[in-house]
Amino acid sequence: MHNLFAQAGNSDLVKLLKKESFKRVYKEMLAAPDSFLPLTFPSDIEPWSGEKPKGPGDFLAESLVLPSLPQVQTQLQEIIDNPESTINDLAEIISREPKLATAVLRLANSGLYKVKGKIETPSKAVELLGFEKAGGLALGTASLSLFKRSDEAVLDLEKFWKHSIACGVVAQEIAVTAGLGDPERFFAGGLIHDVGLHVIFESDYSMAVELYKLARSDGYSLYKAEQEMLGFNHASLGGFLLKEWKFPRQLIAAAWGHHNPRKVKTDPDAMVIHVADFIAQALGYELGISPVIGFIDRTAWEKIGITAEQVIELLPDIRRLIDDVFLILEK
Ligand SMILES: [Fe+2]
Repeated sequence: MHNLFAQAGNSDLVKLLKKESFKRVYKEMLAAPDSFLPLTFPSDIEPWSGEKPKGPGDFLAESLVLPSLPQVQTQLQEIIDNPESTINDLAEIISREPKLATAVLRLANSGLYKVKGKIETPSKAVELLGFEKAGGLALGTASLSLFKRSDEAVLDLEKFWKHSIACGVVAQEIAVTAGLGDPERFFAGGLIHDVGLHVIFESDYSMAVELYKLARSDGYSLYKAEQEMLGFNHASLGGFLLKEWKFPRQLIAAAWGHHNPRKVKTDPDAMVIHVADFIAQALGYELGISPVIGFIDRTAWEKIGITAEQVIELLPDIRRLIDDVFLILEK
């Protein structure tokens, strides 16, 4: 518990979140003490080569399991980027992929959007939510299909999904409260912000085991462990990858800057995702890798312009929405 907030400082928000976390961790420790133990691995794992890549590009070029962008994602992006696209074009792409259509419909009808009446078809969803909102929602939802489970996994995929969804919901609620506009953009930013982490952990089993062990060791955040072992981190890798895939600028910024939000001057996305990432972890939606959850950048927090009390007031709604959205997007 002490480790969890070791780097977090003592701002008003952290103080209030600490209080929330104490109650939760105490209950969880009583209910499932084993879930707090570090993972154990087979003793015959081939040791990692230990060679640092030259950077994210080099790492991706050598990675054996370079993820490819699902076709529906590419088509969605083309439709969203084309100023001549119509509501029907977008609805048609969403309808073509039954899983995506179901998820979009259920999300559109959930508490995430305050629409009147029941939305029963993708074209109704696009019509009622508007082109941009529906496009952003579809893009974020479709991105989740990138996160597939491999046979040998160090990363707990369920925790990863929950963390991504929690971060999306918290980011969206912060954006609404702060009046930043386009809430679905922040939802999508939260869903996709750790894409680089997924790629790192899925690329090489020996490397992932070593990274996990380093990140479990005292005082190491996952970010610091990656930086030391690989010379770059999952945020820069994620930003690089989303840029290669031609994702919208704000989503690239959210992934690239979520651990260094001050570096992104153009959009508030990195700041919001940075704060949402911390809150999601403090609420228990963490990855189960490092026991440390990092810190909240004071400037980012101040620029968003909401108070710690406002966040605490949002928590019951946030928890409910996370559960709802998780049920909708669960595989
Ligand atoms: Fe991260």
